[in-house]
Amino acid sequence: MIGDARSDLPVTITGLGAYAPERVLTNDELSQMVDTSDEWIMERTGIRERRIAADSQALSDLSLPGARQALEQVGSDGSDVDLLVVATVTPDMMFPSTSAILANELGAKDAAAYDLSAGCTGFMYAVVQAYGMVAAGLSRRALVVGGDVLSRILDWTDRSTLVLFGDGAGAVVLEPSEEAGFLAFELGADGAGGEHLWLPGSGSRKFEDPDKFVKMNGREVFKFATRVLVSSAEDVLARYGATVDDVDVYIPHQANVRIIDHATKRLGIPSDRVVINVDRYGNTSSGSIPLALADAQAEGRLRPGSLVLMTGMGAGLTWGSALMRWTQRLEAPPAEPAPPGQARAKTTGGSA
Ligand code: COA
Repeated sequence: MIGDARSDLPVTITGLGAYAPERVLTNDELSQMVDTSDEWIMERTGIRERRIAADSQALSDLSLPGARQALEQVGSDGSDVDLLVVATVTPDMMFPSTSAILANELGAKDAAAYDLSAGCTGFMYAVVQAYGMVAAGLSRRALVVGGDVLSRILDWTDRSTLVLFGDGAGAVVLEPSEEAGFLAFELGADGAGGEHLWLPGSGSRKFEDPDKFVKMNGREVFKFATRVLVSSAEDVLARYGATVDDVDVYIPHQANVRIIDHATKRLGIPSDRVVINVDRYGNTSSGSIPLALADAQAEGRLRPGSLVLMTGMGAGLTWGSALMRWTQRLEAPPAEPAPPGQARAKTTGGSA
């Protein structure tokens, strides 16, 4: 699926927030659990550490701080949100949806609320859906959350997956605006590759051990990821009539530094325009792009007029891009460094 954001009603991101749990899990700690090393993980993935949710924290708990932060930026207490989409593969439970749980916690009484599953591309899919509903006039204030608690579905004895992932969540508010915001989108899926990254024991096909853990064919996923990060970005840029030279801020899915470097080089985007935080968070699935957006915001890299390219990819296999012109100067980050275990956007409600 590909298209321009052609609606008469321009839509943009007006609020942004993120949160990662406090517990930091280092590569050295992982090497005490499985046969791996900091050197191997850094060389193959660029991941230095990741955050892990407390036993008491489910997805809605990780999502709430970032959602509140995003809503604060638009002066909302949550009651006027009329659409709430949570992109995740690790909801609190199959039902009720995490969106409905969050809508209740935020006091969004009139909101349509549902969860969306598109692997690590979930946040991109959810943004495009919310865009469509706001552009069509169905929603006036949409809250899109992307987040995952992947630590719950990892096999803690499997070094091939354990070292890659982490927990975190972020949120954006989408609203009609004077000027566009969103410019073009591209989304896709290839179900034939589904078995390369899957959670086979998690649904109506089978709901039992030992298939309750993530399984992955790392090499196939690597090849897929480097291919679609490039093709999806090129497609969405061409659709809008832009080139990589026009891109000011590139936010790829934070799976692995090698994958990001590969895509960045193939695309020809200078490295100083790329946002990377996978070294600190690992792959947080649907949380990855909003966490990286929040970091870009905290670093003052999202300026009005900046052309922002976001591309996700993940289980499905799926991919998706959105191209947008940044329209709002969101609340500035705190000047002082964040305390250990909490990241930079903390004083505006969350941490990322
Ligand atoms: N620590 C140490 N050794 C490990 C290891 C770990 N955590 N994980 C795997 N290995 C070993 C393998 O067993 C293999 O050993 P062998 O040669 O004796 O069989 C060796 O390292 C090389 O494994 P290989 O799978 O070829 O490594 P790789 O260079 O392909 O890197 C990934 C593995 C997973 C890092 C890489 O394939 C990748 O990044 N894939 C994409 C994964 C991803 O991003 N998924 C999410 C997408 S949303």
